[in-house]
Amino acid sequence: MNDTTEPLIIGFCCNWCSYAGADLAGVSRLQYPTSLRIVRVMCSGMVHPNLVIDALTKGADGVIICGCHIGDCHYMEGNLKAEKRADAIQLMLEDFGIEPERFRLEWISAAEAPRFAEVIRDFTEQIKQLGPSPYKM
Ligand code: FES
Repeated sequence: MNDTTEPLIIGFCCNWCSYAGADLAGVSRLQYPTSLRIVRVMCSGMVHPNLVIDALTKGADGVIICGCHIGDCHYMEGNLKAEKRADAIQLMLEDFGIEPERFRLEWISAAEAPRFAEVIRDFTEQIKQLGPSPYKM
């Protein structure tokens, strides 16, 4: 991956917070890398670990799950479930020989558009440092 090649990052964003934050970032014309492809989900707790592994073994260079802050989940404890799943995902990444830094879990509210843009910029830089996914052909 050179400077001209953007990595491919899949972002599972909770409809109620992070997706709205991403939307606000767009409306506010905040700049963030084009590396991100957003998948809107109803809650971060609904993202099964297999989806993350599938993405990272089938072309994505990084995966980020963004959900509501702890205590703000619209389904009560969905983000707590996401936290537990993130631990499981880290173990699975090890088994698949994928660097743990290729996966991230972040809490971003609907009002945190600048933070959304900053997190995506930072994660994109991190993925660029790692280079392409080892599963990339
Ligand atoms: Fe946003 Fe559960 S509804 S993380």
